[in-house]
Amino acid sequence: MHNTQVQLAKQPEGNPKTSDFQVVKADVAKLSDGQFLARNIYLSLDPYMRGAIAGRHMGHQRLNQGDVIYGRCLAEVMESKHPGYKAGENIVIESGWQEYYVSGGEADDEIRKVDATLAPLAANLGVLGMPGLTAWAGVEKLANPALGSTFVVTAAAGPVGGTAGQLAKIKGCRAVGIAGSDKKCRLVVNEYGFDACVNYKNKNWTDELKAACPNGIDTYFDNVGGPVLDAVTQQLNLYGKVIMCGLVSQYNRASDSPGHGHNLGVFVGKRAQLLGLVVYDYYARFGEYLKAAAPLLKAGRLKFHDDRVEGIDKAPEHFVKLMNGLNTGKALVAVGPEKL
Ligand SMILES: NC(=O)c1ccc[n+]([C@@H]2O[C@H](COP(=O)([O-])OP(=O)(O)OC[C@H]3O[C@@H](n4cnc5c(N)ncnc54)[C@H](OP(=O)(O)O)[C@@H]3O)[C@@H](O)[C@H]2O)c1
Repeated sequence: MHNTQVQLAKQPEGNPKTSDFQVVKADVAKLSDGQFLARNIYLSLDPYMRGAIAGRHMGHQRLNQGDVIYGRCLAEVMESKHPGYKAGENIVIESGWQEYYVSGGEADDEIRKVDATLAPLAANLGVLGMPGLTAWAGVEKLANPALGSTFVVTAAAGPVGGTAGQLAKIKGCRAVGIAGSDKKCRLVVNEYGFDACVNYKNKNWTDELKAACPNGIDTYFDNVGGPVLDAVTQQLNLYGKVIMCGLVSQYNRASDSPGHGHNLGVFVGKRAQLLGLVVYDYYARFGEYLKAAAPLLKAGRLKFHDDRVEGIDKAPEHFVKLMNGLNTGKALVAVGPEKL
């Protein structure tokens, strides 16, 4: 059986290019006792992968030429010689940018069994996956925004930002998104149900943000960092809170560039709280999140949007699109059919 893999061809410099990746055919190893064979169905593409490839993301070694690219997948166990996994089970596993993966039975908390009845399978990589858990941790566990307060989030069309704003709205906040195109803003307001969304590529976007937040900003859930973070924090209310979730505007920087600095004096002047968020701290509470989110999803109160392509060989092109901000919704690669 052949296994199509995407490997690193060379370390990206700045924005990644498709030529940084190579698509190769490899053989699938025979199973030994204690192993199982996973068939990847959906591959999640996430901004952290840019740093992971370069060895800048926590827990990830810098990749070398010929290494399979890191990636979390929704997979099906095809064959098993492992007592904990049965053929036919759906799991989320770090199985990389490839069609098949032989697992040695990683630690239990590195593989998540999926209840296929809760939602479409792909949702387990987005709204019911790591990005959804991130949003929930930021909104429910760190920010806990008050009823009637104003909650602003960047990258609002994506799985983290889109879910965070919807959860804040469900808590009774005014939810205002910031996104990089009018098309994304329409998704954020019309589909996700935010109160407003501002396109930060418009010249007067900070005035538009002021108009969208007539009572100022109480909570800012930041996914992008850089100049947008600088501008939004100027509009924070006294005693506001900033959830530092991501700095995607800085991920493509060259390895020798210091990146954009932030003026932390604003936090002093505003007596604001800045809270760092690392989703890995909340993995033990995945069950709690799913219990809260699955009924909302079923009732149509929590919406999601996928941006998918077909075929593992399309992963590099789709990743380049993501790292240039050109995805609208959760970036996914459909690697194989849901059922064989
Ligand atoms: N703290 C944690 O534990 C944790 C966990 C998961 C994710 N995150 C972070 O959460 C953020 C959102 O993740 P996601 O999966 O939901 O991603 P996403 O929104 O699907 O995609 C990233 C988005 O970032 C925006 N962006 C802003 N400046 C950009 C730039 N210079 N280059 C490229 N994109 C830019 C783009 O949207 P616009 O066009 O709307 O700007 C782009 O679509 C990321 O920063 C990610 O690293 C953090």
